[in-house]
Amino acid sequence: MEILNGVFSVGAVDWDLKTFHGYSTPYGTTYNSYLITGEKNILIDTVKEYCADEFFGKISRVFPVDRIDYVICNHAEKDHSGLVNHILTKSNAVLICSPKCRDNLQKHFHTDYPKVITVENGQHLQIGNHTFRFFHMPMVHWPESMATYLVEKKILFPNDAFGQHFADSKLFVDQVGIEIILREAQKYYANIVNPYGNSVQKVLTALKDLPVEIIAPSHGMIWRRKQDIERIIEKYSTWAANKPGEGIVIVYETMWGSTKKMAERCFVEAVEKNYSVKMFNLEVRDISDVVAEIPDTKTLLFGSSILHGQILPRMAGLLTYLTGLRFNNRKAWTFGSYGWAKQSFEKFETSVKNAGFDLPQPGYYVQFVPDENTLAGLAKTFSEKILV
Ligand code: FEO
Repeated sequence: MEILNGVFSVGAVDWDLKTFHGYSTPYGTTYNSYLITGEKNILIDTVKEYCADEFFGKISRVFPVDRIDYVICNHAEKDHSGLVNHILTKSNAVLICSPKCRDNLQKHFHTDYPKVITVENGQHLQIGNHTFRFFHMPMVHWPESMATYLVEKKILFPNDAFGQHFADSKLFVDQVGIEIILREAQKYYANIVNPYGNSVQKVLTALKDLPVEIIAPSHGMIWRRKQDIERIIEKYSTWAANKPGEGIVIVYETMWGSTKKMAERCFVEAVEKNYSVKMFNLEVRDISDVVAEIPDTKTLLFGSSILHGQILPRMAGLLTYLTGLRFNNRKAWTFGSYGWAKQSFEKFETSVKNAGFDLPQPGYYVQFVPDENTLAGLAKTFSEKILV
């Protein structure tokens, strides 16, 4: 499908994908690849190896694959580099990538890449009637990540940045609805890009004066309306600053329902105080959905029962995951039910602190089953010490 005169989308739609390295993808995803035709033909990125038939089928509808002259690889992760070697084998193409990307491709595919042009940050490159400019984006999302800008058409190909895991037969954000795409872009940012906010800010500064009319990421829908491009850049700027929002997240895991009762009491208390609250029971909700809400959140409540002297395993997994994602500037509180090992909550509080959250108030814990007085005390403490 042609996205602009002479520029074709030739990527793959992965309708079946349900997780992407542990992140739930209920809408599937796409691996976007773009074919730029002209005096020379240039392919930007490829797709996962198992999507080869769809990918080569789309290229062959434009022209035979051996007419590709150059392959730009913006990122070595295999959802984008999976078929680079196949393209190089089927054509006489030259590989273009950052020096780090060449190294990382070699370590993935154990190939020497004798025909390669490595490009530096900010470098221009004239290829036939096309002019490219390259922007290194270390850690957005890997050390070798790079954005490619096509000067004549004002298209930015930023690879993972500005992407979303969203499968659709349509190509553009405005064709499927800005709100659902922004929601998925936030989930993507929070789960994949959040640890690298400083790098994102540097990229946004580098791109600030670039005239961009299309942002064509490597996952999901393409941004083409001016107002949509402005919104996603503004969102990235906000998310990169890692500032807290206004909402509250209550996330818990329960054995016999006591911790659930405590979560629900806190939920009611927050709603009565007119807060925006999202509640997640980890038995039925995925940790990546919890993380997706954190950019909009100022306070998180973590609840768990105690089993074998430990918090429950899904909660432990969430806290390990959060430790890597480096959210900060947010307040947290812990609660839960225990049988005989109350001291185990000390480890719980330590894990929450290690995940980057402030704990201004000791947690609220109950033995076995909370009665009405205990729940009222929970709500009072929550209201007076945490919601303030
Ligand atoms: Fe879509 Fe970092 O790969």
